[in-house]
Amino acid sequence: MEAIYLIGFMGSGKTTVSQELAKKLQVDVYDTDLEIVKKAGMTINEIFSNKGEEEFRGMESEVLYSMPNADAIVATGGGIIGSEKNREFLKGKKNVVLLHADFSAIMGRLKGDDTRPLLSNNNMEAAERLYSSRLPLYQETANIEIDTSEKTVSMIVDEIIQRMKN
Ligand code: S3P
Repeated sequence: MEAIYLIGFMGSGKTTVSQELAKKLQVDVYDTDLEIVKKAGMTINEIFSNKGEEEFRGMESEVLYSMPNADAIVATGGGIIGSEKNREFLKGKKNVVLLHADFSAIMGRLKGDDTRPLLSNNNMEAAERLYSSRLPLYQETANIEIDTSEKTVSMIVDEIIQRMKN
């Protein structure tokens, strides 16, 4: 099976869905954020504040290109599609799944979360601008788009498997 990449905004459920999907398909699961944290020996917040976003993005791209091509689920960070090179890399892949949720659902899920440096100033307008500017990039990069609203993780996993068959 060719690797499945999950893309989408922060809080769209990529990590949770990747784990369930990997269990169901009995393949390995990777998370680009986790790989970066392991490599850097720092949390995402620490990388952003000590090294800056640009360095984080460099590490993120490197990690993306090093992921296995087969028998794996790869959950990606929400900003991975910011780089054109990353988008082109993903467009060359067979299974790129966008987990879509609307902005208010996302903000509801991320309430009280302090692990996302890009949302740490609680500036809703900036967050919504970021969301809107990224949406078309997720959509042009993915070949399967799943609307996650009102769906359980297991429903989302089943839908991904079903849509991959078509
Ligand atoms: C980011 C999303 C985060 C993480 C970092 C930046 C973004 O990953 O990579 O905080 O730019 O949207 P999740 O999408 O897993 O939260």
